[in-house]
Amino acid sequence: MRTEDFHVLFHKTINAHDVMIRTPVIADAPALQNYINTLSQEHTFILFQGKQMTLQQEEEWVKDSMQSQRSVKGLLFVDGVLAGVSDIDVASIEHANSPEGVFGISLAKEFRGQGYGKLLMKTVLDEAQRVLPMRVIILDLFGNNAVARKMYESFGFTEVGRIPNGILHNGQYVDDVTMMLNVK
Ligand SMILES: CC(C)(COP(=O)(O)OP(=O)(O)OC[C@H]1O[C@@H](n2cnc3c(N)ncnc32)[C@H](O)[C@@H]1OP(=O)(O)O)[C@@H](O)C(=O)NCCC(=O)NCCS
Repeated sequence: MRTEDFHVLFHKTINAHDVMIRTPVIADAPALQNYINTLSQEHTFILFQGKQMTLQQEEEWVKDSMQSQRSVKGLLFVDGVLAGVSDIDVASIEHANSPEGVFGISLAKEFRGQGYGKLLMKTVLDEAQRVLPMRVIILDLFGNNAVARKMYESFGFTEVGRIPNGILHNGQYVDDVTMMLNVK
């Protein structure tokens, strides 16, 4: 695949908005850098808290994902604006846990609560199940993240583990919760 090529996973007009979910390309790196650094400053429910990514780090992230046979990444664009990012990675095929996919998702603040998270999650899960050798999908969430938990449960994920006070969030320790979905 050439670095300027992307693969469209979803494209439709929804409520008069142009909604596209596609794989990343190198040209997305500046938008991705702005996206992740804004989320980081928000101190929302992601592990990247307060730090800042460089453009070079973003470019590496995109390059790695474009070359990887073990990853599906979906960028959500609403009217051309980067509104969300989701991915699933499987461990190296040399590893005994390789049938396990690890899921992650985030949306920019102004796009939350309008159904885009569910759409992005469904699109990335469907594509990952089509192209990745997965038996189970796991994810981690902050114990105080009720919105994400509800969304994950609606896809059939169930809690399988919990590290009490495993995450420091805004100065307070919250549980680190692991959820799982069987896909084979
Ligand atoms: C979690 C997140 C991805 C969900 O995306 P979203 O676009 O806000 O969610 P949607 O509008 O698609 O709603 C999906 C489901 O979430 C739940 N939900 C959404 N908003 C909610 C709210 N205000 N209160 C409770 N549940 C809510 C509902 O179950 C909803 O499904 P339903 O409408 O069928 O009931 C998004 O809010 C986000 O990025 N949050 C910050 C980062 C984060 O938490 N990432 C996940 C890390 S584990």
